[in-house]
Amino acid sequence: MSSSTVITNIATLVTNDPALGDGSPLGLIQDAAVVVEGDRVVWAGESGQAPATDHRVDAAGRAVLPGFVDSHSHLVFAGDRTQEFNARMSGRSYTAGGIRTTVAATRAATDAELEANLTHYLTEALRQGTTTFETKSGYGLTVEDEARALRIAARHTDEVTYLGAHIVSPDHADDPAAYVALVTGEMLDACAPHARWIDVFCEKGAFDGDQARAILTAGKAKGLHPRVHANQLSYGPGVQLAVELDAASADHCTHLTDADVDALASGRTVATLLPGAEFSTRAEWPDARRLLDAGVTVALSTDCNPGSSFTSSVPFCIALAVRDMRMAPDEAVWSATAGGAAALRRTDIGRLTPGAYADLAFLDAPSHVHLAYRPGVPLVREVWRRGVRVA
Ligand code: NIG
Ligand code: FE
Repeated sequence: MSSSTVITNIATLVTNDPALGDGSPLGLIQDAAVVVEGDRVVWAGESGQAPATDHRVDAAGRAVLPGFVDSHSHLVFAGDRTQEFNARMSGRSYTAGGIRTTVAATRAATDAELEANLTHYLTEALRQGTTTFETKSGYGLTVEDEARALRIAARHTDEVTYLGAHIVSPDHADDPAAYVALVTGEMLDACAPHARWIDVFCEKGAFDGDQARAILTAGKAKGLHPRVHANQLSYGPGVQLAVELDAASADHCTHLTDADVDALASGRTVATLLPGAEFSTRAEWPDARRLLDAGVTVALSTDCNPGSSFTSSVPFCIALAVRDMRMAPDEAVWSATAGGAAALRRTDIGRLTPGAYADLAFLDAPSHVHLAYRPGVPLVREVWRRGVRVA
């Protein structure tokens, strides 16, 4: 049997289990303790009631919460787009066309360069409390380049998404139908063994509703589960298609009709909001309140990519969501932990309850509220993943 460790003197513990704590969705426990055995949490509760263990760690009055679950990122890429960002902040608007710049740089990179880049951003994210991340292909857009992106990603996470349908490849600019045939045929065959999910950018200038449906349906037939880049830059069919196909998540959700909100409220597709993208493209904020008030499950993620959202910081996204999307701090923290887990259809992460993975973020603050209250301050002091201190 592996040895057990009790972490005591936790000022505020976020369990995300209402049954364990104060009855709120965050399941808060004050003056708490957590017991970790091997890679799992085996007990959480009030300090005074903690069972005897082999080892003891003093949290020194810090807040402890589940490691963040970043359920949407694009980290297999090369190069950057500083000039594009600079031009945008000087008045230019964001278009999906910039993706081509990163496709060219990514194709030109070696496997080792791509992996070093990925590791760099993962380490950055880990230090900021992210213990699970999803990441996508989508900057290769050939059979070989998409498959290698997924192979590299799969060395670092189980949550790998095939996004051959990011934009129509520049090689097929004159024949989008031929590109959709490639994405649903030979490219899918090469990519499916390395991925859990299939995604499509359903947007004007990328893929329309019919193309998106064909792509996601082909992926499902190969055992991949759908998620959708939906309604980011304009109104469109993406969100309703996501719900219709029981996608795990509809991501962005910036432009929503009442029918889109109703569809999300009626199904189990999570709405993943990505405020780093609105920040970095100076776009209007998604209406988080409208979704929450309609009973939609909301996740919060970074969308980390070199074009539309070059941040790996979930705490930054929490602060934006609270300040600019009118989420309460408790809601934002839930969405970045349990919400992200829901968007990945996982129950073993995003909560600190017996049986869940011991993925923990310790804050240099007594409460999770400080993540929004002290924006821009590096509050994540220590990170454990699978019961081991990693940062
Ligand atoms: O989620 N929307 C499509 N894909 C990315 C942007 C990718 C890029 O600009 O390189 C996004 O925002
Ligand atoms: Fe994205």
